[in-house]
Amino acid sequence: MESRWREALYGPGGFFARGEVPARHFRTSPLVGPELAEALLVLLARVDAVLDRPAALDFVDMGAGGGELAGAVRELAEGDLARRLRVTAVDLGPTRSVPGVEWRRELPRAVTGLLVGHEWLDAVPCPVVEGPSDDPWLRDWWPVAAGERAEVGAPRDAAWADAVARVRGAALAVDYGHLRADRVAGRYRAGTLAGYRDGRRVEPVLDGSCDVTAHVALDACAAAAGGEHVLVSQRDALGALLPEVVPGGDPLAWLEATARAGRIAELRAVGGLGDFGWLLHATAGRAADLLPDLPEWRP
Ligand SMILES: C[S@@+](CC[C@H](N)C(=O)[O-])C[C@H]1O[C@@H](n2cnc3c(N)ncnc32)[C@H](O)[C@@H]1O
Repeated sequence: MESRWREALYGPGGFFARGEVPARHFRTSPLVGPELAEALLVLLARVDAVLDRPAALDFVDMGAGGGELAGAVRELAEGDLARRLRVTAVDLGPTRSVPGVEWRRELPRAVTGLLVGHEWLDAVPCPVVEGPSDDPWLRDWWPVAAGERAEVGAPRDAAWADAVARVRGAALAVDYGHLRADRVAGRYRAGTLAGYRDGRRVEPVLDGSCDVTAHVALDACAAAAGGEHVLVSQRDALGALLPEVVPGGDPLAWLEATARAGRIAELRAVGGLGDFGWLLHATAGRAADLLPDLPEWRP
């Protein structure tokens, strides 16, 4: 199953390998507007301070898709930080031309700054099992009973641990996912495998015709990468990183502020993008240097 899933997305003619981008098939936070990039630049500035303003500061967008996030970060960066900033987009799909962004197929060996995997890990294929299994990952993270399905998160754990190990600064995974307590309680008895095509949820068929994805066991990824980390909701993280919008001023300013408030509301919506998990590892300094104390994520 894992290898057929991999072929369907990344093999010859596979969904992402042939250049499909999320923008055509589903809505992700970077597509809502510039506000996610703005928030990540606030985070990057804090990482920069922890690192004592290195001569070259990295922002790496892992699983960059159409490069919207990397492009927005490049465009919005200002001042001395912008002059020292190197923006890299990493994706298995075709190279795209985004001004000021370097494209690669593989992660750089070393990253000094902030690495972000935005909806990357859900696109990392993994084994799917039906019924009880003696797989050690399932034993620890997702015990499965007869008649139940589950995805084995081990390949995502390994991918995330490998990415975090390359970073001096901070690494952030943003994704939809679940926690052990809810898996054990049977909230996901049918597993979470899903397909998306042309903006609609479809049967997850492994023939390259649709994106195939599954929720991420972010708690397992956190444990695999280890070190200092926090796992909070996108709703709370953006609340802490973005200044509050107070519509006012002339009609045009009022209109712009109102539109911005609407986009931030979409990014923070309960039952929507606000429920995404932010798994943030501080590999230099402390997590508290980067985010204030926030409630633990409860998807
Ligand atoms: C769901 S899309 C997310 C795109 C973008 N980050 C966004 O949020 O709009 C997942 C992307 O991760 C890429 N990807 C998955 N595994 C990868 C890997 N090991 N190395 C590089 N890119 C990968 C896919 O090609 C795809 O473009």
